[in-house]
Amino acid sequence: MEKTKATTLLQFFVLLMICCCSSVCTAINNGSVTIAGPLTDSDVIVSSDQSFKLGFFSPPNTTNRYVGIMFNLPVLTVIWVANRDNPLNDSAGSFTISGDGNLVVLNGQKQVLWSSSVLNSSSANRTAQFLDTGNLVLQENGRTVWESFQYPTDSFVNRMRISAASATDGKRRLSSWRSPSDPSTGDFSSGVEISLISQMLIWNGSKIIFRTGPWNGNTFIGIPIMNSVYNNGFQFVKDNTESAYFTLSYSNDLGLLYFQLTSEGILIEKLWDEVKRDWQVSSTTNIPCLVYGKCGPFGSGSCNPQGYKMCTCLKGFEPRDKVEWEKGNWTGGCTRKKMLQCDDQRNTTTTSQDGFLRLTKMKVPDFPVWKSIEEESCDTMCSNNCSCIAYAYYKGLGCIHWGGNLIDITQFPQGGADLYIRVDRSELGGKHFFLRH
Ligand SMILES: *[C@@H]1O[C@H](CO)[C@@H](O)[C@H](O)[C@H]1NC(C)=O
Ligand SMILES: *[C@@H]1O[C@H](CO)[C@@H](O)[C@H](O)[C@H]1NC(C)=O
Ligand SMILES: *[C@@H]1O[C@H](CO)[C@@H](O)[C@H](O)[C@H]1NC(C)=O
Ligand SMILES: *[C@@H]1O[C@H](CO)[C@@H](O)[C@H](O)[C@H]1NC(C)=O
Ligand SMILES: *[C@@H]1O[C@H](CO)[C@@H](O)[C@H](O)[C@H]1NC(C)=O
Ligand SMILES: *[C@@H]1O[C@H](CO)[C@@H](O)[C@H](O)[C@H]1NC(C)=O
Ligand SMILES: *[C@@H]1O[C@H](CO)[C@@H](O)[C@H](O)[C@H]1NC(C)=O
Ligand SMILES: *[C@@H]1O[C@H](CO)[C@@H](O)[C@H](O)[C@H]1NC(C)=O
Repeated sequence: MEKTKATTLLQFFVLLMICCCSSVCTAINNGSVTIAGPLTDSDVIVSSDQSFKLGFFSPPNTTNRYVGIMFNLPVLTVIWVANRDNPLNDSAGSFTISGDGNLVVLNGQKQVLWSSSVLNSSSANRTAQFLDTGNLVLQENGRTVWESFQYPTDSFVNRMRISAASATDGKRRLSSWRSPSDPSTGDFSSGVEISLISQMLIWNGSKIIFRTGPWNGNTFIGIPIMNSVYNNGFQFVKDNTESAYFTLSYSNDLGLLYFQLTSEGILIEKLWDEVKRDWQVSSTTNIPCLVYGKCGPFGSGSCNPQGYKMCTCLKGFEPRDKVEWEKGNWTGGCTRKKMLQCDDQRNTTTTSQDGFLRLTKMKVPDFPVWKSIEEESCDTMCSNNCSCIAYAYYKGLGCIHWGGNLIDITQFPQGGADLYIRVDRSELGGKHFFLRH
């Protein structure tokens, strides 16, 4: 009884509380702060649970001013920037809802440096809410018309979603800063690809430079050596292709954590260290043996720590250009030593001349072409189809097939998947082979 009364009183108080931080008056609600007036350079809006703040900042080594969302910590930790490509050069800027109903960053001359650019409406119908998740939301009569979480900068925080749309819509990807002092749009981006398999990618311009490998329901199987402390915080939600997305969902009592795509194109996981009062990098995609496609088609990298060669040709294959390969230029990849009996041009009744070689602990190639769920039929389906040159079965993923070039394959010391590749029967001789029955 006492407790209920206390809670009610507290809620009543919180709902009514009007906080006048500097000149901006804000109403604090359950989990959100309504931004009621224009923010000037010295104003700061703090989320109702104190986790995040919204306001003007300057990155290190520059006096340029930007409007951004930051962790509410003693170390400047920016997770989102509004006017990233259009900085203010003085402290005369402001952040407000303009007459056309958009969130805008204005300079001292009231010129628009950045706008949320959603369809025009009366500003009277729109309100801006700053949520405890760090999401800035523009609403019209209670309906969300724009949110910062949909237009990420370089950071991926708890409760954010990275949707499949990122593959086609650049704005839905994380995009790196140009340098630690310059938040303008850099060359690197990272997002989700949802096709036969779902994976995360990093691009340098339009070129893929890193791939997590398939999501198996728990983890990305292409990065077993990347050990995230909060592995289970990653979730993949797939209602239909349109609304499939990755999200981070971990309990706050585990501490603060977020992902950042650095200006060097490296995706890092950062953990807040309460003792050192600073961020610690807890995992990184900066792993030389995992550079995308570095060994070319039919070449395989190795993440074995003991004196490995960076690239080797898959068994039954040899370097396409031996001179370049010996020099350490692996981009040309490898080619078959002996043509398969079974190929598109030939009679399929001769398929028995080929077999499948089993490679263990593999990061499976990119671009699968076909997928089914049943493990039993996985090998026969591939054997009976001449254009199927490799398959893999992995729990949580099902049976995946490949045709064409096999690209971005890596062998791990542990983890990964079994990958079966079609080779001429004469190549099958070692311990790890598999003959079709
Ligand atoms: C800022 O400049 C100092 C001195 O040149 C340099 O040591 C530091 O690394 C710079 N910081 C950033 C984030 O660029
Ligand atoms: C600051 O930017 C304004 C335009 O936004 C420009 O007119 C002005 O010259 C700039 N001032 C400096 C010191 O660069
Ligand atoms: C909003 O209206 C302004 C002025 O009429 C126009 O310049 C701008 O392009 C419009 N924006 C959108 C998103 O329709
Ligand atoms: C604002 O909301 C009112 C009531 O919902 C509506 O009648 C009016 O058309 C809206 N104005 C604009 C510009 O959207
Ligand atoms: C990104 O691409 C540019 C231009 O092709 C290249 O110079 C640079 O080394 C690449 N960086 C990474 C990390 O791939
Ligand atoms: C690497 O080898 C390929 C042929 O496989 C060649 O086209 C390319 O120019 C070589 N790159 C360098 C940097 O030598
Ligand atoms: C496959 O081989 C059989 C028997 O040699 C022959 O009758 C048939 O025409 C061949 N099919 C094709 C597509 O070449
Ligand atoms: C045969 O395999 C290829 C490549 O794996 C695939 O594209 C094709 O759909 C398959 N054909 C049949 C009939 O399953």
